[in-house]
Amino acid sequence: MMGTDTSRDGLKRAAAEAAVALVEDGMAVGLGTGSTATFAIEALIRRVKEGLSITAIPTSERSARQARDGGIELVDFASQARLDLTIDGADQVALGTLDLIKGMGGALLREKIVAAASDRLVIVVDETKVAHRLSLPIPVEIVEFGWHATARAIAALGGKPALRQAKDAPYRTDGGNLIVDCAFGTIEEPGELDRQLRDIVGVVETGLFVGRAERVLVADAAGVRELCVERGRP
Ligand code: A5P
Repeated sequence: MMGTDTSRDGLKRAAAEAAVALVEDGMAVGLGTGSTATFAIEALIRRVKEGLSITAIPTSERSARQARDGGIELVDFASQARLDLTIDGADQVALGTLDLIKGMGGALLREKIVAAASDRLVIVVDETKVAHRLSLPIPVEIVEFGWHATARAIAALGGKPALRQAKDAPYRTDGGNLIVDCAFGTIEEPGELDRQLRDIVGVVETGLFVGRAERVLVADAAGVRELCVERGRP
């Protein structure tokens, strides 16, 4: 790829721009969160300025600000039941299943709500995010009350929960909750672990996205390649 930016940011931008090319006039689009999603929103803003007409639901206050400042019309689930397409990043992608770990950026709950309401979830990553099996610590959003008890219940499943910190205090999500990053080693059955975690009282949502991504656009020095899985449409 002569003249192509193969820095990590350059690759994130290339994947994001390939996904934005899938957006069509009149679509309702879910806007992800994180550095790769930021490039996607940037590219969408450019297309909107050129005349593309879309509405969007953002997955974080940060993405909402960027989109609104750039002139993208934001709506919410009061008026919009389904989204045509959501473009979001991921922290790790499992080859084959396209199961994901998300939430290093802290927006996993809104990201999962938006993904669940989307006909298509397109994930944009650079090549470093792709693995044979999921193995990163799983971000788990939990309520503050009784969080030690919640963390103990997660540990009883075999995880090592670590409370995420901001500068001088625990990190807070847009919903005001806490996040524990839970190391489980290599995850053999992501769907089962997701169910077990969500069964724990005090857990709001997990960063395991199982069976949700339909397409993953992966950028490496050779270009952007596509990983796909057939999913039944709602
Ligand atoms: C945000 O909560 C996350 O799910 C992000 O989508 C994920 O962390 C990827 O972020 P980057 O694109 O910044 O790596």
